[in-house]
Amino acid sequence: MIGKLNHVAIVVPDLTTAATLYSDILGGSVSVPTPLPEHGVTTIFIELPNTKIELLEPLGDTSPIAKFLDNNPSGGMHHLCYEVEDILAARDKLIASGSRVLGDGNPKNGAHGKPVLFLHPKDFCGTLIELEQI
Ligand code: CO
Repeated sequence: MIGKLNHVAIVVPDLTTAATLYSDILGGSVSVPTPLPEHGVTTIFIELPNTKIELLEPLGDTSPIAKFLDNNPSGGMHHLCYEVEDILAARDKLIASGSRVLGDGNPKNGAHGKPVLFLHPKDFCGTLIELEQI
């Protein structure tokens, strides 16, 4: 069911500092910041030859990553995003197998304007998983 690793997401306390680190120190190809109010985050993507890194900074007072940053003040690895061909079929199969889909279970448009869902980390080895329909 899962395909390519689309991205690894890292929550950071300061997007500008993190973007400079990835561009100037690590020599990565860094995008401009994109606010995603529906997700309560601002994102920057770093394009790598085989995948992407997503840098996430909280946006707004009710950001879902605010608590993560409270617990990890210097930032940390937040989720892995796997590509799927049919997100609704994937969701139904996961629910049938007893896995928990976060939120109301309906895909939202993600950072690439494509439908995404998140799966409960306790069901997947302690790792928050995002599925993105390609
Ligand atoms: Co993501």
